[in-house]
Amino acid sequence: MSAAICSRAARAAHVRGRARRNQRNGALVDSAQFKASQAQWRKWYNFLSGSEKWLNIRGHEISGRDMLDWRFLNHGYEPIAADDVAPVLRPEDEAGRSSLQLYHHLATKAPLEGKDVLEVGSGRGGGSWYVARYHRPRRMIGMDLAENAVEFARRAHKAPGLSYQVGDALNLPFADRSFDAVLNVESSHCYDSIDTFASELKRVLRPGGVVLLTDLRPAQDMPELGRTFEAAGFRIASTQDITANVVRAIDRRSQDATNINAFLKSKALLSAWQMLVTEETAETFEGTAEDFFVTPSSKTYRCLVEREILYWTFVMSAPA
Ligand SMILES: C[S@@+](CC[C@H](N)C(=O)[O-])C[C@H]1O[C@@H](n2cnc3c(N)ncnc32)[C@H](O)[C@@H]1O
Repeated sequence: MSAAICSRAARAAHVRGRARRNQRNGALVDSAQFKASQAQWRKWYNFLSGSEKWLNIRGHEISGRDMLDWRFLNHGYEPIAADDVAPVLRPEDEAGRSSLQLYHHLATKAPLEGKDVLEVGSGRGGGSWYVARYHRPRRMIGMDLAENAVEFARRAHKAPGLSYQVGDALNLPFADRSFDAVLNVESSHCYDSIDTFASELKRVLRPGGVVLLTDLRPAQDMPELGRTFEAAGFRIASTQDITANVVRAIDRRSQDATNINAFLKSKALLSAWQMLVTEETAETFEGTAEDFFVTPSSKTYRCLVEREILYWTFVMSAPA
């Protein structure tokens, strides 16, 4: 999920800077404001799957850990094109349909059956769980920087060949040439260096191995993402702009009275959000939690609708 792009503290500067940027290149969303450090993201995602201990210290009643049916942390995907058919799901997966469809969209772009597959940034683990059950890889590892998310995933999701572990996208805890495919869903915007991520993927993939990546960026930054992988030696087989599919998923989800809506209004969440606002993080975290979770009244949603933020899918292959 994206950070709040326009914070209160940064808003004045943003507005001042906007005129200059518009003159220069027409861009509205400031790339710098899109950035938070990995350490900040780790803290936030650890909160979202947080331990009771952490929350008890602050006297709160609930934590992300209580949301046992909350298996995903992405904005979701809704099919639009006539030939883009929604997957048939098992009853236990219907609650997460919107987010799961983003994984379905990505995982159907390459054959994964019988392969060794890694997901980098697996969050609460629902995506790797889906891939393990529906696409039958030989081995499916979900890896994430946030220890609490990994702990939740291990507890909530079991399937043959599936495991979860803690690890950093920029220092993958795997031997060279370990995987046939890597999935990466709405996570790369958190990384301090895409160059390092690309070279780590090249190292752990077997020759010709596949990267399936989907994520959002300020529109002006999206081309750079592909160029960075190309510079690392990857071949881009296809790119797809799925911004409209993601917007439709947000629209649809906002009509549901789900757990997430209750969680959004919870004191625990709002208080944790405020805790993340320090002088150094203000540009990213001072917005509302609504901006992070992206509801139709959020700034991020407007940026997606106005195409100032884009959501793209990349299918890439490592050198043969
Ligand atoms: C928006 S969530 C997406 C989670 C999951 N892919 C999903 O769609 O449900 C982004 C995830 O990336 C993880 N992440 C951020 N930086 C990371 C890094 N350097 N290495 C591994 N995971 C990272 C976060 O902890 C978080 O779980």
